[in-house]
Amino acid sequence: MGQDQSAPLIDENTPPQTLDARTVDAVAKYIKDGRAWRVVVMTGAGISTSAGIPDFRSPDTGLYANLARLNLPYAEAVFDISYFRNNPLPFYTLAHELYPGKYRPTITHSFVNLLDKKGLLLKLFTQNIDCLEREAGVPGDLIVEAHGSFATHSCIECKSSFPEDLMQKAVREKSVPHCLDKNCGGLVKPDIVFFGEQLPSAFFANRQLPQEADLCLVMGTSLSVQPFASLPSFCADGTPRVLINQEQVGGLGSRPDDVLLLGDCDAGVRKLAEACGWLEELEDMWAKTAPEDEPDTDKEQPKKTRDEKLEEEVDQLTREVEESLKLSEAQHQWLENHVGTKFEQIQEEEKKPGPMQPATAEPVKKEDIESSRRVDPKDAAAATSDSSSVLAHVFPHINKKPSL
Ligand code: OAD
Repeated sequence: MGQDQSAPLIDENTPPQTLDARTVDAVAKYIKDGRAWRVVVMTGAGISTSAGIPDFRSPDTGLYANLARLNLPYAEAVFDISYFRNNPLPFYTLAHELYPGKYRPTITHSFVNLLDKKGLLLKLFTQNIDCLEREAGVPGDLIVEAHGSFATHSCIECKSSFPEDLMQKAVREKSVPHCLDKNCGGLVKPDIVFFGEQLPSAFFANRQLPQEADLCLVMGTSLSVQPFASLPSFCADGTPRVLINQEQVGGLGSRPDDVLLLGDCDAGVRKLAEACGWLEELEDMWAKTAPEDEPDTDKEQPKKTRDEKLEEEVDQLTREVEESLKLSEAQHQWLENHVGTKFEQIQEEEKKPGPMQPATAEPVKKEDIESSRRVDPKDAAAATSDSSSVLAHVFPHINKKPSL
């Protein structure tokens, strides 16, 4: 046990210790034999891409690659608490698109629900903020939302909670909500873990569970964000770990009982469900997640591929964030002119003899006003390095060395 992020793949001649073979059928047999009754599942954005939500790091369709085109100090700034304090609009523009309720769970989400309904799910650790696991029926107490979620909201200053209906209204209108406490008035945001913030206590309270698991399923994550990325390494030696993902990640495949199912998540869980004899049940369960009034719009039109749909979605998101940045630039310009004029007026007034303002009042300094509303790129860089110890796990490339 321990860090095995970059461990080499196991030699194919090395026999497994627990499974009969490193295959889907052997995993299914292990489950059907009743040997997997404490299953720990670890998921990331890849399990929601077939719902139409872009992931973060896929080279063409990922959110970060697309946001990198924009005039943000760096793509992840939309999820950066210091950037948010100064310019919350790009986040709220994204939130408008990503807010729960617009997307249907995928069959992979339903598979996790099926594991629970069969009494096998010990815990689901998710990095996703889309709440689709809950939507699929997985009970809240079995989910650890390691990077928070859109489920609750609070003030970033006084931490008091903010009502769901008001947040929905703000997100719908792409307006920025503020704390209801008049004495505070701080910015409010969904309780998503931003760069510069700490993971929820539930993550730390449950992170010993992989050690107790008898099966680990890792799906749709690049496992590049610490401390989440270390979870699979906490599984005991001999505990089968199954990776269902487009690419091999995080040292999965380095132990004798690791099984790699490389490819699409939905296809992977269908294969596993079929091998377990659960496919029909799974399809029925997933069918129930379809909205009743879902119009069958693509009936007459040629079907788009998953990547085409994602490219469209991510393009739209990028355009919207770009608009919000232009908007902020326009507001910024207005303030600049306004503050500039005020500053000149004050300078003129200061030259005149006699009191112009109460003696206790400090003259307004242009740089004070400037610094309260603008992120200096240097500050952004400093914020990045300052917070690397706190949330380097959320933006790992900022802190190249993975740390717990
Ligand atoms: P990433 O975008 O880093 O990784 C998604 C992984 O899923 C990649 O390995 C993809 O190849 C794979 N993938 C995408 N679609 C797939 C599909 N249909 N089937 C199978 N695999 C697929 O997303 P995460 O690992 O979730 O933090 O990223 C972790 C964190 O980084 C996020 O929680 C986010 C970000 O900074 C916050 O938002 C706070």
